[in-house]
Amino acid sequence: MDEELRAWVRSARRIAVLSGAGMSAESGVPTFRDALTGLWARFDPRQLATEAAFRRQPQLVWDWYVERRVAVERVRPNAGHAAIADFQRRHPGRLTVITQNVDGLHQRAGSPGVLALHGNLAQDRWLDAPRGCCREDAIAPGHPPRCPVCGNLRRPDVVWFGERLPQAELEAAQAAAEACELLLVVGTSGEVYPAAGLASLARHAGARVLIVNPEASALDGVATRRLRATAARALPALLDGH
Ligand code: APR
Repeated sequence: MDEELRAWVRSARRIAVLSGAGMSAESGVPTFRDALTGLWARFDPRQLATEAAFRRQPQLVWDWYVERRVAVERVRPNAGHAAIADFQRRHPGRLTVITQNVDGLHQRAGSPGVLALHGNLAQDRWLDAPRGCCREDAIAPGHPPRCPVCGNLRRPDVVWFGERLPQAELEAAQAAAEACELLLVVGTSGEVYPAAGLASLARHAGARVLIVNPEASALDGVATRRLRATAARALPALLDGH
């Protein structure tokens, strides 16, 4: 590993990580687009990951998410997730994880305070505003589950295309991007906003931006430097031993 990059880590009082699907690639997580294999190959994600699609075909969309949930439960955090969590354990409060991933792997690796901008596949919530009858402890099973009284459906607790991000997480992520001296952008194509905008926010606030990605990305122009490497190989080399 390039000694200059390790020196960046050593000297940065505040570090932020912005991760995307590539962070979990070496865990074997079927990425957003890969999940459309087999039975789902004929669908476009934008066809399934929207509120309108869910209202139109609740069982189809619900079952697609259940399939992804099962797939994610079968995999484990990789060495990249572990390197980040271990660093956080050694340096409490010094590194903030911001992720676009809904797979929960940073959390399962032990990272505290993960800012999950696009929600979490393992959780669901009411589709419409819950009424008195919509009780979390009295949900009727089904595809999707629903309120046995008024029929309010449960939906995956993820951000669908066209939906707003959770405001508290987004504001905390923007604050972390502005406060950090080093932003590690790991495994994201940088095409989806507002998450992708955090890189230029950090750069303009004076942070160094290091992209970790084996391929080119839409954020390369914002990077101080690029590391053409995978997350599971680069992150231990960058973060271990500090
Ligand atoms: N290590 C690091 N990066 C990797 C690896 C790896 N092992 N494998 C692939 N990559 C990179 C790819 O080169 C690509 O640039 O990860 C990136 C994945 O990009 P996307 O599939 O577009 O995922 P992401 O950027 O997270 O997508 C953003 O779009 O699909 C929606 O809401 C969904 O959160 C998602 C958002």
